[in-house]
Amino acid sequence: MTQTPPLQLTARADRYRDPGRHAIERKEIFGRSWLFMAHASELRAEGDAVAATIAGYPLLVVRYGDGIKAFHNVCRHRAGPLVDGDRANCAGGLVCNYHGWAYTLDGRLRNARDFGAASGFDPRAFGLFPLKAEIWRDFVFVNADLDAAPLADAMAPLDRRLGQRDFSGLVHAERRTHDIACNWKIYVENYLEGYHIPNVHPMLDAQVDALKYKVSVEGAICFHDAPPKEKGVSVYDGVWAFALPHLGFNSYGDDGLMMERMVPVGVSSTRLVYDYYLPPAVAADVQAKQRILSTSAIVTAEDKWICEKVQANIDAGVYDHGVLSPKHEAGVGWFQAFFQSISAT
Ligand code: FES
Ligand SMILES: [Fe+2]
Repeated sequence: MTQTPPLQLTARADRYRDPGRHAIERKEIFGRSWLFMAHASELRAEGDAVAATIAGYPLLVVRYGDGIKAFHNVCRHRAGPLVDGDRANCAGGLVCNYHGWAYTLDGRLRNARDFGAASGFDPRAFGLFPLKAEIWRDFVFVNADLDAAPLADAMAPLDRRLGQRDFSGLVHAERRTHDIACNWKIYVENYLEGYHIPNVHPMLDAQVDALKYKVSVEGAICFHDAPPKEKGVSVYDGVWAFALPHLGFNSYGDDGLMMERMVPVGVSSTRLVYDYYLPPAVAADVQAKQRILSTSAIVTAEDKWICEKVQANIDAGVYDHGVLSPKHEAGVGWFQAFFQSISAT
């Protein structure tokens, strides 16, 4: 006889509105996790660079010889940016946008432009702050923790699920961003359950079989199984997963995938960054691309609406905690256990 599980409580409301907690999460989660940055096709030529700010950390990756180097996008002089914007080619080296200090692609200070003589100034002590960079299935990730465990360990469950699928031929087809007035964890938790689909997403509900919707957890990965009502009709007919701490991996059958970063901007503001990687033929097919883009735009608008309502209600101060559905909210419970295990060090 199986035992009925005990009722599970949610995390407390303070977790979603307290600036002190937010500062701890920023440092202890985003300062120590593998963070997705780019597909290898975006870093093909020497000096190709991609930059992103994640939870306030300005990060950059750059092609250097056969490999990838990664740094904080912060100059050692007076903290100017090396790469301004999302991407650049820095074949001649990384040059600061402020006073023009120049660094080699492996981060050494090559020229402190017109600095003047100062005894005790050793350029070797002013290299860029390094990040760890690793590639998983053509996707480039960075980690500010130089002692971090290998990326492959965290991605192993997803790796097994993907089997022989090959993403090497994809190209970056589109980026869409959405700003949402809620704590990043409210959006992540919403992403981690299908319980709300019949109420919040009528179009999606018509495509997926809500009764067979399943969420399961394996290590650092949460999987969604959302069988389509009709084979080949739903764009969600692929592998649909979430990797801690903030990456949605949304693959569309054979048509490529969308990497969805749920980026904390402030305690109650989140930016969704959707990067679409598609086969070149699909990227060039305006209708096929539009079908993929418009489906996620509709679903995102619906999620934005509900997540902003939830944040406002949490901020109202009448709700302290709730309860989790044992049937539908295992992914939410898993994520809450993860962030509640983080403490200040
Ligand atoms: S801040 Fe980079 S050169 Fe001055
Ligand atoms: Fe949703």
